[in-house]
Amino acid sequence: MIGMGGRHNWRLTSVDSFILCLLILLVQSIPAHQEGFISIKCCGGEGQTDSSSITWISDDQWYPDETGCQNIARASSDNYTTGHDKVRYFYLGNSEKRCYSLPTTPDRDYLIRGTFPFSNSVVGSVSSTFDVLVGVTPIDLVDSSGESQVEGIFRATDQYIDFCLVQETGDPYISQLELRPLSDDSSYLDGKDSTVLLKLVDRVDLGNNGIPIRFPDDPHDRIWTSQDTERVSLSAITTINNTISKTVAKVPLKVLETAITNEYSFQFLYIDLETRDCNYTIFLHFFELDDNVRPGQRVFDIYINNEKQQANFDIKENGSNYSELALNVTANGSLNLTLARVENKSKFGPILNAYEIMQVRQWVEGTHHRDVRVMDRVKDGLLQQNKGSKKLEGWSGDPCQPSSWDGLACHYSNGSTIITKLDISSSQLQGQIPTMISQLTYLKELNLSNNGFTGKIPEFARSSTLTAVDLSYNDLSGSLPDTLITLPHLTTLYFGCNVHVSADPSTFNHSRLRTDSGECARPGSAQKHNRIVIAIACGSFILAVAVVAACLLLCRQKLRTWGCINGKQLIMSKGAVFSIATTDEDPLRTINIQMFTLNQIENATQKYKTLIGEGGFGSVYRGTLFDGTDVAVKVRSSTSTQGTKEFQNELNLFSAIRHENLVPLIGYCSERDQQILVYPFMSNGSLQDRLYGEAAKRKTLDWPTRLSVALGAARGNAYLIVHCCSGLTFLHTFAERCIIHRDVKSSNILLDHSMNAKVADFGFSKYAPQEGDSGASLEVRGTAGYLDPEYYSTQHLSAKSDVFSFGVVLLEIISGREPLNIQRPRNEWSLVEWAKPYVRESRIDEIVDPGIKGGYHAEAMWRVVEVALACIETFSAYRPCMPDIVRELEDALIIENNASEYMKSIDSIGGYSLGGSNRFSIKPPVLPTPPPTPPEPSPINPQSMASVAPR
Ligand SMILES: *[C@@H]1O[C@H](CO)[C@@H](O)[C@H](O)[C@H]1NC(C)=O
Ligand SMILES: *[C@@H]1O[C@H](CO)[C@@H](O)[C@H](O)[C@H]1NC(C)=O
Ligand SMILES: *[C@@H]1O[C@H](CO)[C@@H](O)[C@H](O)[C@H]1NC(C)=O
Ligand SMILES: *[C@@H]1O[C@H](CO)[C@@H](O)[C@H](O)[C@H]1NC(C)=O
Ligand SMILES: *[C@@H]1O[C@H](CO)[C@@H](O)[C@H](O)[C@H]1NC(C)=O
Repeated sequence: MIGMGGRHNWRLTSVDSFILCLLILLVQSIPAHQEGFISIKCCGGEGQTDSSSITWISDDQWYPDETGCQNIARASSDNYTTGHDKVRYFYLGNSEKRCYSLPTTPDRDYLIRGTFPFSNSVVGSVSSTFDVLVGVTPIDLVDSSGESQVEGIFRATDQYIDFCLVQETGDPYISQLELRPLSDDSSYLDGKDSTVLLKLVDRVDLGNNGIPIRFPDDPHDRIWTSQDTERVSLSAITTINNTISKTVAKVPLKVLETAITNEYSFQFLYIDLETRDCNYTIFLHFFELDDNVRPGQRVFDIYINNEKQQANFDIKENGSNYSELALNVTANGSLNLTLARVENKSKFGPILNAYEIMQVRQWVEGTHHRDVRVMDRVKDGLLQQNKGSKKLEGWSGDPCQPSSWDGLACHYSNGSTIITKLDISSSQLQGQIPTMISQLTYLKELNLSNNGFTGKIPEFARSSTLTAVDLSYNDLSGSLPDTLITLPHLTTLYFGCNVHVSADPSTFNHSRLRTDSGECARPGSAQKHNRIVIAIACGSFILAVAVVAACLLLCRQKLRTWGCINGKQLIMSKGAVFSIATTDEDPLRTINIQMFTLNQIENATQKYKTLIGEGGFGSVYRGTLFDGTDVAVKVRSSTSTQGTKEFQNELNLFSAIRHENLVPLIGYCSERDQQILVYPFMSNGSLQDRLYGEAAKRKTLDWPTRLSVALGAARGNAYLIVHCCSGLTFLHTFAERCIIHRDVKSSNILLDHSMNAKVADFGFSKYAPQEGDSGASLEVRGTAGYLDPEYYSTQHLSAKSDVFSFGVVLLEIISGREPLNIQRPRNEWSLVEWAKPYVRESRIDEIVDPGIKGGYHAEAMWRVVEVALACIETFSAYRPCMPDIVRELEDALIIENNASEYMKSIDSIGGYSLGGSNRFSIKPPVLPTPPPTPPEPSPINPQSMASVAPR
């Protein structure tokens, strides 16, 4: 168990499950009756077994550091001589805390006990006081001027409990920590709602003048101390004993075997209690040790603080030798427990075998369960890549209470504490941004700036309430996710000075969004430049609308800063959109399309040896370039009528457009009437192949992959047609000039080696007609089964035609069926006509591909079905826009992924399995309203946990 790195927590992430497994192994290797015991000697050695046969572990899996470890010189007068001679000090800042997170089973009652030695016995120590918390409920204030043991009884509400020390003055320390599960019939918390914590004041085995009784005599390892003569009134107490063979008592026999008695009365005085009104429960345990006493012969009254709590109490009244009482009192400063014989009625005086005094403390709710879970995983994610980070090491226990972690801000709202701000700027953090960060439902501000974060920017859920995000001054890469840019409440987004981040300019259509220039404008690190953004915006191939639009968009905002736009370059005539501009002197040209010679093409394809596809344009061959790149080479056939223009078209578009979900053009060849385009080879073929082609027979595409492919394809298409729907009013010239693919279909969605979707085949693509254009020149193009009926009948092309086709693709993904198949019964020829009635009647089970049954989350599936249905509306006006489809699919994917992650976490916890492939039946529960957007259904929330582990 040594060497778990900076792990302090015992919450159930994958790392923790690993620790838990180790613990289970350890627990199993010790006697079964210690089951669930966790016994920690701080700074101690492993596997020690003490005289009461308890096996101890060290705390180095929580705190591997040795610097806080100190030796204790134990004096013989020490009260808790369990023999451990080390103590761990935490050197903390003001109000900082350090916690031990221990695994628990929800709904089970536990005893937790910390031991804090007399600090004078620690060489060179200075005095200190600190708070001790169970969860976030304060249980005691430890003062180093005496030795103390702090014990509490609580009912677990989660899979772990934190035991925390919070700095007050001086440094907190601890030498031992013990967790003991109580059996179900332990009655401590009976009748109390689970929202209390019982703090032990005293637990006394009367009549015992020897060593305290604990495990193994007490299976729960409660410590029954001998009676403290100062507390009990001395007048003629008699100690009696007897052997008991068996009893139904919840107290060890050994404890009951001794008792005290007096002819008239005895009393216990506690004068050093908290001086405020506190509630106490006093448990009294009686066993009649004198066999001569018959019912009615030992009758007494019980007073607490001069109030009679029980009159005429008779142990043997019910025929049993054993009886117990739990008395509730409110006291301030002192307790006087008196047992007095009932005069003239009772032959014998009172007897008492044991008692426990517990202070009842209100349980303090921790931070919103889901936020804690997410935050722990964010922390784990960060820690994995930033071992030894002081900031992260300080993140211990509850993120918000009693004071929040450095970098967090929390709010109390609607009865729970939520995390609203995460600011870990300038913290020298590296590695990927943990994707879980996007799951902080209530987060409003996120500041990750001035670190060394790398990798992609995570996607965000629509329900996010983020208003401000600062990602600047990192080393992130990829594009700004649409899911981030389009967050409904986002007003500020800084991403500057991330050299590898490409901001897809077309997505900055939110004028309300305040962003930076993407530059490294702030003083201190002036070297970095967001060249990619500049390059995309101002690259030399300012040919096609998208780039012009991009330039207009970005450079309008940044004209003054960059000064990079030459006004002349933007002037384009309507007819000029297909021409290739070659402003070779432009230094920022980044979209690099190679020109190949015919010779090179023939070498690459070994003289067109491997034919991998054929289309209207011509044939496609597989090849390998001299540098090893696998390519697909598209050769225009000499008989093709559509060739030349499409060739130009694709060349123009591709040289202007780059998107991760569009197949990029590597190069071309235009020599001796040959027109050849060169693309990277997509090793996983087309979506069509995967759904119902040859590849599908080998291996069915699972639902999450289908979903992510659909999303990728939608993003690719949305990139092309984004301007049609978004209403960029200031782009008068190009507002309606979007690019319409015109041949969206599953065979045009290609899959690369890691199953990323890339839209291919722009041969048919057109700019959307503008007002004033004569539409007559546009002949109807497309593929049967995908063709928009409105376009077909009116010959009026719009971006919504692609949307219709995309709807058909979604239906293919759902059903695994081809869009048109005349081999099927007549009513099933057309996928659209066949599927529609089922969807309308909510019978989606009957159209879902049998190959993915049971492998999807119902809510995610429904979202996709609904989008598909909207896309295939007969009237184009009723169809959604591509960006809307993207958002819907993103939400669906998030739901699906959360469900899978959730299932995994449930499985790894063990014992909470929902059973096999029952995922279809999971209804996503509803979260408490995160203001001000409506709740997002999400599977990781307390309510769903509750449904798993019934409270
Ligand atoms: C042990 O307990 C006694 C009685 O409560 C107390 O007076 C004494 O100070 C304790 N010893 C230490 C080292 O705290
Ligand atoms: C003490 O309080 C609990 C609730 O906190 C209650 O269930 C129990 O009956 C009370 N006992 C007595 C003797 O009043
Ligand atoms: C019980 O009392 C007898 C004497 O009466 C004594 O020898 C014995 O040690 C006592 N046992 C306990 C457990 O106190
Ligand atoms: C003590 O108990 C009473 C009644 O059960 C309750 O009203 C009161 O708030 C409690 N006081 C404290 C300090 O917990
Ligand atoms: C404790 O309570 C008993 C019974 O009410 C009373 O007789 C006795 O004087 C009290 N003792 C003290 C020290 O208050």
